[in-house]
Amino acid sequence: MIFQNELINWYLINKRDLPWRHTNDAYTIWLSEVILQQTRVEQGLPYFNRFLENFPTVADFASATEAKVLKLWQGLGYYSRGRNMHATAQIVVKDYHGIFPNLHDELIKLKGIGEYTAAAISSFSSGEARAVVDGNVFRVLSRFYGLATPINSPAGKKEFYALANDLLYKEDPALYNQAVMEFGAMQCKPKSPNCSVCPLGQECYAFKHGQVNELPVKIRKAEQKHRHINYFVCFEDEKVLIRERQAGDIWQHLYDFPSVETTKECEWSDSLFIDRVKSVFGNNADFTFIRAKKHILTHQIIHVQFFALKNYIFNFNKQKELNWVSLSNLDELPQPKVIHDFVLEYFYKNKME
Ligand code: ADE
Repeated sequence: MIFQNELINWYLINKRDLPWRHTNDAYTIWLSEVILQQTRVEQGLPYFNRFLENFPTVADFASATEAKVLKLWQGLGYYSRGRNMHATAQIVVKDYHGIFPNLHDELIKLKGIGEYTAAAISSFSSGEARAVVDGNVFRVLSRFYGLATPINSPAGKKEFYALANDLLYKEDPALYNQAVMEFGAMQCKPKSPNCSVCPLGQECYAFKHGQVNELPVKIRKAEQKHRHINYFVCFEDEKVLIRERQAGDIWQHLYDFPSVETTKECEWSDSLFIDRVKSVFGNNADFTFIRAKKHILTHQIIHVQFFALKNYIFNFNKQKELNWVSLSNLDELPQPKVIHDFVLEYFYKNKME
């Protein structure tokens, strides 16, 4: 029990005062946990507050438009998570009379709720004895117990889950789960943790054996794929031509601009690139480079170039995903972060100056 006692003592002294720790409402905890899977606490807080302000209840969430949900989610990445939340809210209203489930076996049936989220929501909202295992927990257990099985392998998952459930403090699972995650986030940090002030230092395998930087072990994932997307910005009479992205690729139902994807980065003066652009936007198409950006996703690195396009031809009958939108309404549409950053810099900053 030394491990559990030391962790809980440390937590009671060092914990951050976070809003989702003052409630046992499963809906509110669900919001916080899904957001915190995407980002760190400081960045997640404003998202959590905005979601709760806009959707105080799960019924409010369920009845929102998908565009509104995606707009609130904008910047968190992994937009399928935002869409899954919307679907889940609708199922909770339809099948659970609007009462968000608080038991693991019900939660795990819902879209976007996996083992981690089901354990977090059930332990925090109903006190169910389920151990949470997130990146923080993997790190703390791996270092303290000297476990070198890769945490992203099936064998590692099994081993860490079994240990985490053995260690769970059954008298108060919520307190213990919060404590071990907070300890991982604040004390047993991924890089350069300050082990000299760690209350578990004397018993920690990694500290005693000088392996703090070697643990946990992770198998390297496949190389990220590089993509080159060239965006063409058409701006006329205070209107911008936008495209709603369709299923089957990244950023489904988010808005960007007409684009041409190439296998490598193209100079705007490259004749093959010019031919390609003209084949899409007509022979008179005329474009100038604006700027380039890089956007890193989990499995893809997106190299983006923006061009201003003039003298183009579009076939709006064929390309129903294209629409003109007035500049004043552009910011209301959910956009991938790389597009939204560009829009702010290119359209709104210039406007404000
Ligand atoms: N990260 C994931 N869940 C968390 C929580 N409940 N508190 C702080 N950080 C977290």
